[in-house]
Amino acid sequence: MTVPTSPRARILAVTSGKGGVGKTFFAANLAAALARRGDRVLVIDADLGLANLDVVLNLHPKITLHDVFTGKASLDEAILPAPGGFSVLLAGSGLVEYSRLTPQVREQLVDIIERVAPRFDRILLDTGAGISDVVLHAISLADDVLVIATPEPTSMTDAYATIKVLAMQQGRRAIRVVVNQVSVNGEGRTIRKQLQLVVDRFVCPSLDDGRGAAVPLELLGEIPTDFSVREAVQKRKLLLESMPGSPAALAVVAIAGRMAS
Ligand SMILES: Nc1ncnc2c1ncn2[C@@H]1O[C@H](COP(=O)(O)OP(=O)(O)OP(=O)(O)O)[C@@H](O)[C@H]1O
Ligand SMILES: [Mg+2]
Repeated sequence: MTVPTSPRARILAVTSGKGGVGKTFFAANLAAALARRGDRVLVIDADLGLANLDVVLNLHPKITLHDVFTGKASLDEAILPAPGGFSVLLAGSGLVEYSRLTPQVREQLVDIIERVAPRFDRILLDTGAGISDVVLHAISLADDVLVIATPEPTSMTDAYATIKVLAMQQGRRAIRVVVNQVSVNGEGRTIRKQLQLVVDRFVCPSLDDGRGAAVPLELLGEIPTDFSVREAVQKRKLLLESMPGSPAALAVVAIAGRMAS
């Protein structure tokens, strides 16, 4: 299906609070699934100092966002084709200058997103873990936020903390949720419900000057724990290409379908 070309990309930030829950795996494979549906998709590695989208996609970029920020390369040179039929803007690794949100980084990210938005239908921001200023700034540039949680208590606590900050600081009133690494069918629904309960109880009453506001969490889907994911990451291949029939791949394709409808 070809989505009608819109004047500006819809920007989705993929975040989680806790690290290592599957943001980069999900963003890369979701991009491939959306590209297959006819969307022009760009994934930006918004984990500016500790990037690893390049590793997951087996790309060895000579040019990254860092070169664009420092004026060593043009934006066009930094937008690279990725396996899976989408484009990427990769970041560098071990760059301590991106651990803090300086005025320059703030403006450069805004500028880059402004310039790429007209060229794509969808932009996915693969953020770093945590709720640092850099992560929150990247999220603030997105139209929609998707929080990835796993059923582990530590992941749920961090997902809750992220949702709280987004509702209170950024005025987000709708947040999408994907539950990764579920072991039982329907576990995603349970996790969403548990998160919604704490958000309703502890966050919503304090919003909008104490008058209260709703922050609905929309479950976009669940992804099972699937050994194929680890295998694909080890081989540095997209799961959708190396094991398209695996349960996790099918789950990501279903989520892309839900996003498109
Ligand atoms: N559904 C799954 N089934 C099995 N393993 C998974 C699944 N999802 C993720 N993993 C494992 O978790 C690892 C970490 O995933 P990924 O790098 O995408 O996390 P991340 O949230 O981007 O991490 P970071 O916070 O460091 O950026 C993967 O390499 C894979 O081994
Ligand atoms: Mg990552």
